[in-house]
Amino acid sequence: MNIPFLNIPSFYEQNKVEIDRLFSEILSGGRYILGPNVKAFENEFSQYHQVPFSLGLASGTDALLLALRTCGIGAGDEVIVPAFTFISTASTVAYAGAKPVFADIDPSTFNLTEKTVCAALTRKTKAVIAVHLYGNPVDLGSLMKLCREKKLILIEDVAQALGAEYNGKKVGTFGKAGCYSFYPTKNLGAAGDGGMVITADKKVYSKLFQLRDHGQSTKYRFETLGYNSRLDELQAGLLRLKLKQLDAWVASRRKSASVYSQLLADISGVQCPVSLPESRHAYNLYTIRARKRDKLREFLQEKGIGTAVHYPRPLHIQKAFKDIGIKTGKLPEAEKACKEVLSLPLYPGIPGEHIEIVASAIRDFYVGVK
Ligand SMILES: Cc1ncc(COP(=O)(O)O)c(C=O)c1O
Repeated sequence: MNIPFLNIPSFYEQNKVEIDRLFSEILSGGRYILGPNVKAFENEFSQYHQVPFSLGLASGTDALLLALRTCGIGAGDEVIVPAFTFISTASTVAYAGAKPVFADIDPSTFNLTEKTVCAALTRKTKAVIAVHLYGNPVDLGSLMKLCREKKLILIEDVAQALGAEYNGKKVGTFGKAGCYSFYPTKNLGAAGDGGMVITADKKVYSKLFQLRDHGQSTKYRFETLGYNSRLDELQAGLLRLKLKQLDAWVASRRKSASVYSQLLADISGVQCPVSLPESRHAYNLYTIRARKRDKLREFLQEKGIGTAVHYPRPLHIQKAFKDIGIKTGKLPEAEKACKEVLSLPLYPGIPGEHIEIVASAIRDFYVGVK
């Protein structure tokens, strides 16, 4: 038996003729950088989110870095980030010249909360990056209130949460900037790297526009030191095709997640994902908490079931951040989550039979270890 964790090539296999035709048109057109597909994709992405501005970039990491720089974050500033996330959320703060300050997470949603952010606040705090981890929205109501009171900039890391909603509105549209990744495993995955920033602020957009293309305002007129961070035409063309199916894919992810949750609900070693009543999870990942996680993972692997751990080590105790000097034990919920989380196979159109096999293998494991 082989139950893969993901099925990345399926979109190409199902749409080969259309994708081959599109790529051949772009390749024979000769306009590979910042061409019509990038512009059209940005417009379509803005429409999808009901925001005025979207800007295509080379990756989700660059989306965060350029958003931070555009918001004026730099030396002497502190930015609060969760300790339990992918490294880019924090590394980009350091690349911008500021200090990432790690905050703990809520044990049920795995996200930052107003309370954990408060515990990390200092006089130097200038911004907060809210990561909607796994596709599960942060409690934006209370966090935005805190940011308003303390005059903090809110940046959303939406890399895993494209299509998720809070109070009926797409996440990514609440902060000063929403930062997306099109890494192939994301809800909208490119055939390579890509990213996007969305914003309602024209000044933010204009600065980003220059920063992504070497700081140019017009050709060879450099207003600031920028980056080479452009989404390319092939990726934009492919992402335009995929965007048309995004809502159906997110619906399929939600349906499969709810089947998992029904099948796993009464297993005492397992805690299924929890979202807030205001939220609609987009399930980039279906991640459970599992007793004896590593043993369970091995057991599933022996049965040919692919799983993943997002993430095995919190950021505050990673060597890369050793200069920040936070000791093990300081952010207990993030540390505990790293020992217990397990992501199960999930992608749009995953066969129902696979979900049943995975759930029943998990049940067998816990019967065996009782
Ligand atoms: C939460 C989070 N933030 C940022 C990123 C960075 O995105 P990219 O890989 O496109 O640079 C990722 C990608 O895995 C992510 O999961």
